[in-house]
Amino acid sequence: MRFSRFAILAAAASVAASPLKEHKKRASSFKWFGVSESCAEFGSGNIPGVYGTDYIFPDTSTIQTLIDDGMNIFRVAFLMERLVPTTMTGSFDSEYLSNLTSTSRTKNLNMVTDEYKGGGLHHQRSLDNEYHDMDQTLVLDLNQAAIDGIRAAGATSQYIFVEGNSYTGAWTWTEVNGNLVNLTDTENKIIYEMHQYLDSDGSGTSATCVSSTIGQERVESATQWLIDNDKVGVLGEFAGGVNDVCQEAITGMLSYLEDNSAVWLGASWWAAGPWWADYIFSMEPPSGLAYTGMLSTLEPYFV
Ligand SMILES: *[C@@H]1O[C@H](CO)[C@@H](O)[C@H](O)[C@H]1NC(C)=O
Ligand SMILES: *[C@@H]1O[C@H](CO)[C@@H](O)[C@H](O)[C@H]1NC(C)=O
Repeated sequence: MRFSRFAILAAAASVAASPLKEHKKRASSFKWFGVSESCAEFGSGNIPGVYGTDYIFPDTSTIQTLIDDGMNIFRVAFLMERLVPTTMTGSFDSEYLSNLTSTSRTKNLNMVTDEYKGGGLHHQRSLDNEYHDMDQTLVLDLNQAAIDGIRAAGATSQYIFVEGNSYTGAWTWTEVNGNLVNLTDTENKIIYEMHQYLDSDGSGTSATCVSSTIGQERVESATQWLIDNDKVGVLGEFAGGVNDVCQEAITGMLSYLEDNSAVWLGASWWAAGPWWADYIFSMEPPSGLAYTGMLSTLEPYFV
């Protein structure tokens, strides 16, 4: 989402897949399906800001509800300026870090330091969120530097989610982000994270989807890019309003991604978090509009 563009995001859940719910017909062939937890990056105008006023942490009990529903990845947004409040190379704010890590159940948020070198297979790191209007070579170089830094710090088991320019949109990926094909990782665990919204300008600010087929249409060229270049990706953000056209568009898109699950490892909805109130895409249990109106559309794709 554009208004979270200052956030650095960590896709960060290490949760056991829950037993399939009875109403689930099948497990999808994705590896991950979940939601972005957006709230610890709120209040970016106030650094460090006040907990409970400017920002809040994800709610472990509602995350548990989503895990029980069948989700298995949570993408936790945070502000680098809060995590490292002094200088670029300063140390972590231990309280912000411990609050983040306790809610995201991972001790894996150190991006480029040697504080933590282990990590299970289900830990991932994601770099800057939604680059936009930046020099394209710079986007390549920043991503490469982050990958190299993480590996140099000794973290070798994690997947690294990289995002591209132009808000990392899938629909413009091949026009904009072709040079990211040249990213390298000594561990060969790069995952290309793309985002896709289905409203007319692709910004995810309207509950109206362009058409019932727009979902698949907007991810086709990126899918071909992944296939052609022998890469893998995740759809790290997507959403649509709770209405028939969007539900059909989302079903079409997710079915297409699943048909191509050799290159698409999963998807995560935008967004959950305690402060979304009546937001059109809120996946926060128990009463978020998307939680009550969209969950059954997504459930066939849970892992
Ligand atoms: C960490 O979270 C606790 C509540 O769990 C809160 O009281 C505290 O202010 C938070 N600290 C920071 C630095 O966010
Ligand atoms: C990848 O790098 C090679 C070697 O530098 C270069 O020739 C090629 O144009 C790059 N590919 C893209 C798509 O930028």
